[in-house]
Amino acid sequence: MCGIVGYVGQKKASPILIDGLLKLEYRGYDSAGLSTIETNSISNIKNKGRVNSLNDIPELSTLEGTIGIAHTRWATHGKPSVVNSHPHMDNSKTFSVVHNGIIENYNDLRIFLTNNGYNFLSQTDTEVIPNLIHYYFSKDTNNDDKKFLRAVQSACNDFKGSYAIEVISSLYPDRVIVTRKDSPLVIGIGENENHISSDIPAILSYTKDFYLLDDNNYVEIYKDHLNFYNSNLEKIEKSIKNIEWDATAAEKDGYEDYMLKEIYEQPKSIRETIGSRIKLDAPSCFDDLNFTKEYLSSLNKICIVACGTAMHAGIATKTLIEHLCNIPVEVEIASEFRYRNPIINEKTLAIYISQSGETADTIAALKLAKSKGCKTLAISNVIGSSITREADYTIYTHAGPEIAVASTKAYTSQVVLLSILGIYMAEILGTTKSYVLEDLKKEIFELPNKMQTVLNDVSGIKNFAKLVHKEKDMFFIGRGTDYAVSLEGSLKLKEISYIHSEGYASGELKHGPIALIEDNTTVVSVITNEDLMEKSISNVQEVATRGAKTFVVTNQNIDKSRFDYVVEIPPVNSLISPALSVIPLQLFSYYIAKEKGLDVDKPRNLAKSVTVE
Ligand code: M6R
Repeated sequence: MCGIVGYVGQKKASPILIDGLLKLEYRGYDSAGLSTIETNSISNIKNKGRVNSLNDIPELSTLEGTIGIAHTRWATHGKPSVVNSHPHMDNSKTFSVVHNGIIENYNDLRIFLTNNGYNFLSQTDTEVIPNLIHYYFSKDTNNDDKKFLRAVQSACNDFKGSYAIEVISSLYPDRVIVTRKDSPLVIGIGENENHISSDIPAILSYTKDFYLLDDNNYVEIYKDHLNFYNSNLEKIEKSIKNIEWDATAAEKDGYEDYMLKEIYEQPKSIRETIGSRIKLDAPSCFDDLNFTKEYLSSLNKICIVACGTAMHAGIATKTLIEHLCNIPVEVEIASEFRYRNPIINEKTLAIYISQSGETADTIAALKLAKSKGCKTLAISNVIGSSITREADYTIYTHAGPEIAVASTKAYTSQVVLLSILGIYMAEILGTTKSYVLEDLKKEIFELPNKMQTVLNDVSGIKNFAKLVHKEKDMFFIGRGTDYAVSLEGSLKLKEISYIHSEGYASGELKHGPIALIEDNTTVVSVITNEDLMEKSISNVQEVATRGAKTFVVTNQNIDKSRFDYVVEIPPVNSLISPALSVIPLQLFSYYIAKEKGLDVDKPRNLAKSVTVE
């Protein structure tokens, strides 16, 4: 998705802007550009393709400006091209703008501006922004220092949709103005310089002190101070947040790819997720939750709503929450939930999971639940992200920055956090015997070491991946929580290796999919539940009889000779097994993609943070 960077300081802006854009590359984009304020004019450099292609434009090296804005674009309106790339300028070249999000009423605004003598060069929704700012600026007869700000605010008042915007003007060569609505934007504070970005990691190497903006805040950013305003342009105070991530945590740390690094970080990230939330022989606690027995007993159901991998974390923990709390749990796809009329009310607890906290469908689904009177709880990895500001309660996964598009450590942290939440609620409700909860807590504490055991020897997984990397189709099967993890294994394979795959409940095979099994079709099965083991093994045998190559991930005592390859993982309670059994599946997809020579961190057509529908 699009990314924004900005700089106001004393150094040459363009190299700093390019550095920031490179750090945003993982989000996915198709073109890049930047504007700097030179002596009384704005220079605008943009190109289709990679950020580094900007270095091929000779004018770049001539830029001396110490204030600038920059952008990576992921096309929504108009194809990837130089003219559609950001920054966009108004006709008089007084204002330059970069924008994330979508201006939904851009067509009406374009007609209005055209009728007022403005021309448009691009097909983008964004180009209306600098022109509308110019329109309001030229109508304002008050020439005070806030004229620029007023023009930006007047333009924003006309927009429908979502936006994070940076604006510079040749008439105000000492500042950048920024604002946001439903799209992320942060300001990093430095010594006589300030940085702006849509994503914290892009500017983490410059500072750890950030201002997080709320919707409809406006900020004038100078090199040595900032002015914050609310939507009515009244001055407001904001407090600085210190972000603990260090810059190297956001780099590859010697691993070949971010995805591999993040897979290997899981023992550490799970320890962070657990934190001090559970203790043996003491009630679990979440600093930011104050659920009472009365409230939890009044619930008619829990709805877990999310997209992609985050939604799979919900499926993986539904059984645990139902089992421990005796409350029905429904897991919903956010993009479906938001467009139907779900039966939810003040007796429903609606939980929204989002690594980025910026997924448009998940945020819209949360707003819907709020409007129907539900209490909403956000689970996110990004402090201060949009979803956390909308929800009644937030709990953080604390998995650390996840850069690779394919989610790995965020998934296991979400599974563990939801499991702890289930334990916490069961303790308040008194619905599960305390020794059962204590056993589960012990299992959660042991997870990091068990993960490390799996990560210590990956040679078998690598070899099997090598064997099957040329396949066109694969199946992932399992029962219960093993089915839940099969869905995630299948998604991982699709997104980074481009191999078609399906995740199926093993018991469903006979109802259709088994017709697709032929000689050498690869079937990956997960077997971690003792009670379902025999049935699961029978299902694998059924496909093996029809010629399938079988790859089994298990912690059960099974006869290995019956399968082509078996990965053994440590024993773990099947209620939380997805947090462990997913690791061989993540590695399997990773090594297949590497074997095919693909870019695992930036798979085609995908973006890390899906901030538009
Ligand atoms: O940031 P979110 O957790 O809301 O993202 C949701 C999905 O877009 C995300 O999990 C996606 O499915 C991943 N690329 C999967 O690896």
